[in-house]
Amino acid sequence: MRSKVVVGNWKLNGSLAGNDALVRALLREIPRNGAAACAVCVPYPYLAQARELLQGSAIAWGAQDCSRHDSGAYTGEVSAAMIAEFAARYAIVGHSERRTLFGDTDAIVVAKFAAARRAGLTPIFCVGETLEEREAGRTEAVLARQVDALLQSGGAGGLEGAVVAYEPVWAIGTGRTASREQAEEAHAFIRGRVAAKVQPNIAARLPILYGGSVKAANAADLFAMPDVDGGLVGGASLVAEEFVAIWRAAGAAVKG
Ligand code: 13P
Repeated sequence: MRSKVVVGNWKLNGSLAGNDALVRALLREIPRNGAAACAVCVPYPYLAQARELLQGSAIAWGAQDCSRHDSGAYTGEVSAAMIAEFAARYAIVGHSERRTLFGDTDAIVVAKFAAARRAGLTPIFCVGETLEEREAGRTEAVLARQVDALLQSGGAGGLEGAVVAYEPVWAIGTGRTASREQAEEAHAFIRGRVAAKVQPNIAARLPILYGGSVKAANAADLFAMPDVDGGLVGGASLVAEEFVAIWRAAGAAVKG
């Protein structure tokens, strides 16, 4: 059985003092022998603080993006190797906010995924459809295009050891969550696509997280679905009690 994972995406939020209070509150509640894994993806300047506060704990840390380039004249970019120097485990790539607001195409996302891999980071590869695409009946076509872009670039095994996050764009920050059935349908489609294109055993092991208005109130419902292996949590990851409750819901789902 796949283990459950809950990852907080702080987005463009935080301060040294605020992070300190938030992380210490998480550390009080999330023990090393918990049933579900846990991580936070922080803004780049806080990676050092995350390492200082979290090393040796049950909570891993990561970044919310990375450059597709390893080094060179790319002002403002942060390489995956730089992120890895702070003992980070994860880099989110292809988040819908990067795709829609910052022009990350499928090709750029794939290049960022490869850069994260080169640096030894675990990419959290985000996919998801917009409301317009869903209403036009194109959800599966969009997911297939996003997943295939990665599979074609990486060949068999490209997703081995990586994490996928299904984040319907219409559910992000809107308070509108996908129903558990909608989430399961999309997750099963993604897993099936990976199984068909690469080895089925890689697909069977692949953690697929759901993201989009995950809260303490809906987490247990979502995590009970067979192909939902945890959550990528935005707003609720900034509130310690909410995030801990979501993590507990993931642990309870593991125990069944
Ligand atoms: P919200 O949980 O705030 O909807 O954000 C989801 C998300 O984008 C996580 O990456």
